[in-house]
Formats: sequence, C-alpha cells, structure tokens
Amino acid sequence: MSEPFHAVDVIITKRDRGELSDEQIDWVVDAYTRGVVAEEQMSSLTMAILLNGMNRREIERWTAAMISSGERMNFSGLSRPTADKHSTGGVGDKITLPLAPLVAACGVAVPQLSGRGLGHTGGTLDKLESIPGWRASLDNAQMMAQLEDVGAVICAAGPGLTPADKKLYALRDVTGTVEAIPLIASSIMSKKIAEGTGALVLDVKVGSGAFMKDVNRARELAETMVALGTDAGVTTVALLTNMQTPLGLTAGNALEVRESVEVLAGGGPEDVVELTLALAREMLTAAGRTDVDPAEALDDGRAMDVWRRMISAQGGDPDADLPWAKETHEVRAPADGVLTQLDAYKVGVAAWRLGAGRARKEHSVQAGAGVVMHAKPGAIVRCGDPLLTLHTDDPDLFERALEALDGAFFIAPEGSRPDLLPLVIDRIG
Ligand code: URA
Repeated sequence: MSEPFHAVDVIITKRDRGELSDEQIDWVVDAYTRGVVAEEQMSSLTMAILLNGMNRREIERWTAAMISSGERMNFSGLSRPTADKHSTGGVGDKITLPLAPLVAACGVAVPQLSGRGLGHTGGTLDKLESIPGWRASLDNAQMMAQLEDVGAVICAAGPGLTPADKKLYALRDVTGTVEAIPLIASSIMSKKIAEGTGALVLDVKVGSGAFMKDVNRARELAETMVALGTDAGVTTVALLTNMQTPLGLTAGNALEVRESVEVLAGGGPEDVVELTLALAREMLTAAGRTDVDPAEALDDGRAMDVWRRMISAQGGDPDADLPWAKETHEVRAPADGVLTQLDAYKVGVAAWRLGAGRARKEHSVQAGAGVVMHAKPGAIVRCGDPLLTLHTDDPDLFERALEALDGAFFIAPEGSRPDLLPLVIDRIG
C-alpha cells in the first residue's frame, strides 16, 4: 500500500517547531501501530514533541488517533452510571482498592482497567495478585456481568484497547520521552476514553514520589487531561495531591492490601481514608450522585461487602491469609526529635529493591516485600524507635534497599514544625 506521507517529513515538521496537521497525526500513529513507521523514527518524533510541545488541537487529534488504533468499550447498557479514577502513580498509592468498592456501594459502577507497576511506583494489579486465587484477566462479557452484578471491576486492560499506546509507551520508557506532557496526557486519556467510562476523576500526584515533581507542571498536565476528557464527552475533574511522602504506612503489594482492608473495616491511616473519601465524593458528583455520602458506606460496612464480592468474583478468597515476607530488618531513629521528612521516592525505590516492584516488564514481584512505616512527618520520635521495617524473602536485598534510603528521612529538634503541603493541593475541572 502506498503511504500518503514520509515519516521523515513529519519528524522534520516537529523538529522545526511546526504544527502537525490532522492528516499527519492520523497517519503517523496508525502507520507506527502497523509497523510502517520504524521505532527509530517514532523515537525521534517523540523526542521532538518532548522538546517542542504540541498545541491543544494536536494533542486532541493525537489522542483520537490512539483511541482509533483499537476497540472502544461501551457501558451505556448498564443500569447505573459509571465513574473511574486514574492516578498518575505514587508510592503507597493503594487508593483504588478501597475506592472502587466504596463508590460501587454508593450506586455508581466502577470499571477500573489497571496496570502493573514499573519502576518505583506500585501497580494495582500486582497488589491484588497477592490475594490467593485472584485473577486480573477478564473478557469484556465477564467485565460487563461483574459491573452489573457487583458494581466494581479492577482488571487488566485487554490487548485490543489502544494498541498504539502500548507500543508507544514501551518506546518512550527506553528513549527518555516519558515526561512529555502531550504524550502523558494523550496516553492516559486515550485509554480512559476508549474504556468508555461516563465520568473520570484524575489523581495527579505532585512531589518526589510522582512523575511530576513540580506543581506547575502537574497543573498543566491536569488541565490538559481535563480538557481532553471534557471535549470527548467524559465528565472529568482532577485533584492535585501530595506525593512528597508515601501514602499511608505501607509500600508493597500484600502490605498495601492489608492496609486497604483496614480502611474498608473502618480503620486505617488518616491520609488514606481522607484521600479515598475525597476521590469518592468527586466520582459520585461527576456521575450525578450528589445525594449519597461515601463516609456512611465506609462506616456501615457496605463498602467492605462490595470488596468481598469483587474479590470473590475474580476467583480470590477475601478471607485467605495474605503472604508475609520471610525476612525483616528494622531502621531505627538515630536521634530524638520531630520527623520532618520521609521521602516518597526513596521509600518507593527501597520497596522496589526489596522485591515489591520490577525492573523489567517480564520480571515477577514478591507478594510480601516492601516497607512498613512506623512514623510519618510531624510525628515525635525517640532515639532507637523503629521508623521503618523492611520486608523481603531475600535478605541479600537489604543492603541495596538501605542504600536507597540514605537521606530518606530527617529528624529535626523537638518543637520544629515540618513544612507540609496539604494532601489535596488543588482541584481542576
Ligand atoms: N501513565 C500512562 O498510562 N501513560 C503515561 O504516559 C504516563 C503514565
């Protein structure tokens, strides 16, 4: 088949700070997915996009081209509205686990297509796979049936959804082009629009443990994604939330599932509860349910009931004992004082090196590995108190995890006040 463009001309247009036409964008995304545009050509184009940006029309067209590369799901036949949440990824970010059943318990169906972790941030599917028997793969008919029956599904995206993004994301990962805002926004939003959710709440993380270290870049990303969702007919809002320090008191797969179950049982760390409720309120409002209070569904056990049904429906045993790592190592406070800093990125890297995450897609993760935090910024600590417990099956991994934790925390003299950002920094939409 003769091609209407040469890839090199498209690359040169963007290299020279030009605008790509709709036709160029449609062609280059499709031709790359078909294997006609070579990896080195797309690599060069994504670098030109990273350096020279894209305008709103180009981003919207690029997103539409990625959606058209695969199938689109449709939940309009369900008896209740749908809402989904997407987090840009953080350390200890287990919020999807209590959130999906909570929102379902309030009458809004949650179709969550989730991913596995890569790098220092954990993946929701890896966490749930620590539950004996639970499986991530569902076909579209099973997903639809579970949404109607239970109200919540967390599963892996099938190969048919946005294949262009699958290829492009893998390429960006190894060519230093992940950080381009037009490419992040189109990657996330193409998947969410193709997934067919009616409403979407974006949790855009800011801080050391997030993609976006800087609040202004996080705001730009959030605004870009909200505009893409809104223009595609999906009610979309974004919260900018703090990822300077890990969420909750655990980072690691089974450790985070246990903490999520505590939240569903009415306990759990304050920040996890606060963010779960804030996101639940946004999802319910975006789906038109302003008449229900998610705090009640958490308190009276309805969210826990949905969790149990959701886990069982995917083959998991909600009563099974979750795995523990074979070995632990304690990190203790070196002085008396106030913990003013606990760095999300360093804790995330430590959990990853202990076996909770993977360095390459084909690696497996340890279910029990990770980090338990005994204090969060603002806490008063005494010299010798345990600050962190490291968990792994392989004690040889402690040394590299401890290296990652070098400078991860700071203890200031008593009376000092840590300079903490609020958990929810801003709302866009
Ligand atoms: N998550 C995605 O799905 N895509 C990106 O580009 C970045 C984060």
